[in-house]
Amino acid sequence: MTETLIRGRLLTFRRAPLDAADTESFIYETDGALLMSDGVIQAFGAYADVKAKAEDGVEEIDHRPHLILPGFIDTHVHFPQMQVIGSYAANLLEWLNTYTFPEECRFVEKAHAERIAVHFFDEFLRNGTTTAVAYCSVHKTSADAFFAESLKRGTRMIAGKVMMDRNAPQGLLDTPEMGYDETRAVIADWHGKGRNHVAITPRFAITSTPQQMERTQALAEEFPDLHIQTHLSENHDEIAYTATLYPDAIDYTDIYAHYGLLGPKTLLGHAIHLSDREADAISEAGAIAVHCPTSNLFLGSGLFPLKALKRRDKPLRIAVATDIGGGSSYSMLKTMDEAYKIQQLLGERLNPLESFYHMTLGNAEALSLSDKIGTLEPGTDADVIVLNAFATPAMALRMETVKTLGEELFLLQTLGDDRAIVETYVAGRASKPNAI
Ligand code: GUN
Ligand code: ZN
Repeated sequence: MTETLIRGRLLTFRRAPLDAADTESFIYETDGALLMSDGVIQAFGAYADVKAKAEDGVEEIDHRPHLILPGFIDTHVHFPQMQVIGSYAANLLEWLNTYTFPEECRFVEKAHAERIAVHFFDEFLRNGTTTAVAYCSVHKTSADAFFAESLKRGTRMIAGKVMMDRNAPQGLLDTPEMGYDETRAVIADWHGKGRNHVAITPRFAITSTPQQMERTQALAEEFPDLHIQTHLSENHDEIAYTATLYPDAIDYTDIYAHYGLLGPKTLLGHAIHLSDREADAISEAGAIAVHCPTSNLFLGSGLFPLKALKRRDKPLRIAVATDIGGGSSYSMLKTMDEAYKIQQLLGERLNPLESFYHMTLGNAEALSLSDKIGTLEPGTDADVIVLNAFATPAMALRMETVKTLGEELFLLQTLGDDRAIVETYVAGRASKPNAI
């Protein structure tokens, strides 16, 4: 058993912070160390204590004065959209039809899917994201390429072959039966292989017929432990069009509820424009609203009421995500920078502790995976990142006036990006790719 010990300032959350002064919500070791072996965290705490537990001749890496955190988690991304980021469109539906659907058609080709998969993992690890929840394209080839690359990298990833059988180009359509069969095949081939998880992935109600929703319900009943991911209430035109396609539903949320797709493992991308009834239904089901701030701003979709949804009598479980390629950054730091600004526009405050909680333990809890990721607790996966708040000249200059941990985190969020990620450990192995 080869052990690796990394030394630096450790930060890990115990629970969601109640406010900016909630020092009980996290553990912070100013001279800390983390001991890793067999892909798992063996110990963490004060350097002297952890060093005493390590075997003689342990490999020791000194990251001082940098911060050591659990790897970031991104709960909503589109693997086949790396080459549509920054496409100029007026709104969601125009963006999907003009750029995104044509681009996703290319993933029928194995070589293309495999090439983009290499870039995907390079980019996520460069940005310190060690777990992502991804939509592949409708083609099984895309899921195969994604999971094969994940297996190679040793990452814990969640992904699904998208199911869609209408309102898209022919090259992007399956059928209710094909969607069902191919999702089953992806589960058989990849679920539980390495650290891969398969998610049941109906794209959204606009692109699935009621017949496809029924087959999706069958999958959800056969595989109740799997995550389910879809999109909900992102844009007003989308919501209006959806209502015409499912005239018997009370509202958008009711469509997914009707087909048994609303539960504690359901990730609802965006969920910006919810009625009180919908928010109650989502809260009662324990489903998760996934906030994608850079995408919501880029596509002009709306301002997600994160703080208001958390404050409700029936609060919502909330996760955060980039939504590449509607989103405009791979960085979870930049993502929370934009989340902060959205709350500012809504007259709310999002404090830096809360932001860093969301990127790590909060997203792990939203995925029901906090026993494995999002924390530095012994026994969890050794997916760990090292952050440098002095990474650029502008950051170093601002750091001269920073006095507290909260200020340092806020600076990392406001000015940081992939340059602030010194190293990304995947299952204990240094895995940050070199910059291009
Ligand atoms: N709704 C359905 N598909 C998509 C997608 O690919 N991106 C975004 N942002 N919203 C969607
Ligand atoms: Zn999406």
